[in-house]
Amino acid sequence: MVCTNPEGIMKIPIAKTQFSDRVDAELVKVVRSGWVAQGPKVKELEEKLAGYTGARHAVAVSTGTAALHLAILAYGLTEGDEVIMPSFSFIATANAVVYAGLRPVFCDIDPVTYNIDPDVIETLITERTRAIMPVHQFGMPCDMTKIAQIAGRHDIKIIEDAACALGSLYNGVPIGKTTGIACFSFHPRKTITTAEGGMITTDDISVADRLFRLRNHGDNSSGLSTGKSPGFPDQYGILGFNYRMSDVHAVLGLDQIDRLEEFTVSRNNIAARYNERLRDMDCLQLPVIPEDNDRCNFQSYLLRLRSDAPLSRDELVSRLLVRGIGTKQGIPPIHLQSIYTEKVGRVRLPVTEEVAYDSFFLPIFPALTDREFDYIIGTLRKVLA
Ligand SMILES: Cc1ncc(COP(=O)(O)O)c(C=O)c1O
Repeated sequence: MVCTNPEGIMKIPIAKTQFSDRVDAELVKVVRSGWVAQGPKVKELEEKLAGYTGARHAVAVSTGTAALHLAILAYGLTEGDEVIMPSFSFIATANAVVYAGLRPVFCDIDPVTYNIDPDVIETLITERTRAIMPVHQFGMPCDMTKIAQIAGRHDIKIIEDAACALGSLYNGVPIGKTTGIACFSFHPRKTITTAEGGMITTDDISVADRLFRLRNHGDNSSGLSTGKSPGFPDQYGILGFNYRMSDVHAVLGLDQIDRLEEFTVSRNNIAARYNERLRDMDCLQLPVIPEDNDRCNFQSYLLRLRSDAPLSRDELVSRLLVRGIGTKQGIPPIHLQSIYTEKVGRVRLPVTEEVAYDSFFLPIFPALTDREFDYIIGTLRKVLA
């Protein structure tokens, strides 16, 4: 839907990127350096991300989807293997599994955190289950303790879809420090962006080695030490891909990663203020703010509209858009997409379906001004009066 504003008051996007002024000069430097493809800036971003998350290895790739695809291949999962995942996710989560010839098995979610429900996971395990793919949805950390216990009991892998979760903490530890593999996206709606891009973290050197090869047609040689392009290898060894990130993209990420903490604190403040100002509205279910050592980065702010609200969710979204407020319906469940019903048949996921059809997003980004914030609150209240 197009976001128009007939009253000419304000037009607020659902998300907004924020680069420092110095990024222009950094971009020009890279463009003029003679090395615009994967090179020193990508390596620097990998080192910074490993440093931030505490992961031993970080592998940059072209998108978050590519990160998920390579994670599956790096674990040697093969055709027909099953991966348990939520359906309440962006379609890329399941697509990556299907690219590798595996079968997604959709699991229902918790109605409060919107993350995969660990109590349901175990009921879905079969002799073909090889991995669980929890999604830290909108940055909310999944219950990784329970998920790790289940994975341990059944000897299956964990691939975290952390596309939205850079900056979030689980038990005080950054998402990305994992016993399995974690995959991030740097799409512009995420907490930091490289325009398009992704990153994979792992502590396992042999997995990291496979990932470095897989992203570059099986070849892990690099011209970084000599400053010259390396020659062709005698043998490529494995069937790889061109999932490389370029230095032009990496320099955008380098501009932002040092500000990740500032961005995350700012997103948390906005989420807390939304919750405070909307607390008395009985027709809304507000997102939870984690306590203790967990932190959600509030990559998105998703609310549910209760069934006794004065208008439908779709009507509410239309009215907000007309008033210039960037919003969207909650994510369409993957298991109801025809390409997936054809593949895996019809499954019933009651919580997923409820949340998908009664939820909507409000704008959240670090540069949101107080005026914009007040306008969003005032408009939402008026529309729901
Ligand atoms: C949960 C989830 N997984 C995977 C992806 C895919 O990331 P990308 O768009 O960088 O390929 C996204 C991106 O929106 C996402 O939200």
